[in-house]
Amino acid sequence: MQDLRHVTSINDLTVDEIETIFSEAAKYLRELRDPQLPHRISRSIADGAGCILATLFYEPSTRTRLSFESAMLRLGGKSISSADPATSSAAKGESLADTVRVASNYADVLVIRHPRDGAAKLAATYASVPVVNAGDGAHEHPTQTLCDLFTLLQEGKNLKHLNIAISGDLKGSRTIHSFVYALARFGANIMLMPAKGMELPEHVDWRLRHELNCYAVPRAHYEKDNASVDVLYMTADKPHQLSLISDVEIKLRKNIDAMYVTRFQKERWDESSQDYPTIDQRFLKDKKFSKTSLLHPLPRVGELDIALDSDRRAAYFRQAAFGVPIRMALVALVLGLNRDRTLQKYPGGFRAEEHLIYDQPSNVGIGCANKNCIVHDPLDGKYARNRFQLVDVHRLRCFYCETDIADFVVGNKKSRHYDTDVSRLEEALRRERDVVFFSNAAGAEAAGYSLPKRRRKTAGA
Ligand code: NCD
Repeated sequence: MQDLRHVTSINDLTVDEIETIFSEAAKYLRELRDPQLPHRISRSIADGAGCILATLFYEPSTRTRLSFESAMLRLGGKSISSADPATSSAAKGESLADTVRVASNYADVLVIRHPRDGAAKLAATYASVPVVNAGDGAHEHPTQTLCDLFTLLQEGKNLKHLNIAISGDLKGSRTIHSFVYALARFGANIMLMPAKGMELPEHVDWRLRHELNCYAVPRAHYEKDNASVDVLYMTADKPHQLSLISDVEIKLRKNIDAMYVTRFQKERWDESSQDYPTIDQRFLKDKKFSKTSLLHPLPRVGELDIALDSDRRAAYFRQAAFGVPIRMALVALVLGLNRDRTLQKYPGGFRAEEHLIYDQPSNVGIGCANKNCIVHDPLDGKYARNRFQLVDVHRLRCFYCETDIADFVVGNKKSRHYDTDVSRLEEALRRERDVVFFSNAAGAEAAGYSLPKRRRKTAGA
C-alpha cells in the first residue's frame, strides 16, 4: 500500500518525473500521428492490455474524462466509467471512501473528479490502487497542468524564464493552482491578471513566495503601461536571490511568451461575475503579444473571442488534443507498464521535505479553514480526519485540501493550558502528541483551557 503512487497534486511528481512524462508523451504523440498505425493503439506497450482504468466523476467533464478513457484504450487497456453521481450509488448516499474501496477491486487505477477540495487525497487514503486527481473542487487539476506545460514545449517555448500571463478567475480555477506551482518549479516568470476579487488564494501565493522561491515584484516596478497585471512572480535561480528590477522591466517590455485564460468558475461562487476580462484580437494587438501562445483549459464561455481560433497564436485546441498522449504517459507510468520507465517506488514527489503530520479528533479545536474542504462534507467528512501538516512552524496546512491556517493557538491536553506562542510547537509535537490546536484564545478558553500563570502575567503586562 505504501508503494502506491497517487497523483493528487502536481507536487506529487518530481521535476524529473514530469520530464519523463513529457518524453513518453512525445513518443505516444508520434505514434498517434503515425499513418502506419491504423488502430492507433500503442505498439510500445506490451502489457497494457490486461489493465482497467476507472473514471469516477462527480462533476461535469468532457475533455478530461474522455481523454483518460481514450488514453487507456490507446494503451491497449480497458476503461469503465461512473460519469454521473445521479446514476451511481452516490445518489443513494454512499460515501466517496466506500466507493473507492470497492472500485479498487474493479480497476487498476482510479481517476477521480469531485466538487470538494481535497477529495482526491481522501480517496487516496482509502484506495488500494493508485488514484489520479482529475480536478477536486478549487484545489488542483494536476493532469491539466501536464497538458498545459507539454503544450508550451510543443509550441517551442522554454519553461525556464518563460514570461507567462494568467488571466481570469485565479481563485476558483484549480487548473491555475496546479499550473503556477509547476511554472514556478520550472523557473517561469508569472504575471497575474485576476478578474476583480478573484486573486490567487492566500495559501497559493504563500507557497509561491516561501516554498517555490518566487519573488513577487510590486506592480509599480514593471508594466507601467499595463495596469491589468496585478502581481508578477519572478522565479529566482537561487534561494533569496532577488531579481534585478531593471532586468524585469526590460524582459517584460520585450515579450510575453504565453497567455493562459480561464473561465469564471461559476460553480464555485455564490455571486455572478462582473467585469470579467475578455481576451480578443484588440487586446492581443500590442507588440509584446506578437509571439504569445494562447492557452485555455476549456471549456470557454465568452472570455476568449472565437475570432481568435484561426489566429496562429491560438494553441488551445492543440492543448486539448495533447490530453491523450499526456494521459497515456501518466497512466503507463503510474501502472508501471513500461519497465524501463517507472515512477519512484515511494510517495513524496516534490514534497521531499517531510512536514510533521498532526491529527486531532474532528470535534475538538480547530478545523480546516476552507468551507469547501472534503472534511466539511456532511457525509464524506466522517471519513476524513482533522489532519494538518505543520509547515514552517507557524502554519497548519490541511492534509486534504492544502489550505493553510496562519493564526492559531496551541493547547496541552494534559495541563489544560494553552499558549499563543507557537514557536516551540515543532519540538512539542516531536516530543509528545498531547497538543490540540484552537483558532484563537477565546476558542481555547471556551473548551476549558487557560493561559499558564507565567503567560498570564506577560499577557496582562
Ligand atoms: C477545467 C476544470 O475542470 O477545472 N476543465 C478541464 O478539465 N479542461 C477548467 C474549467 O472547467 O474551467
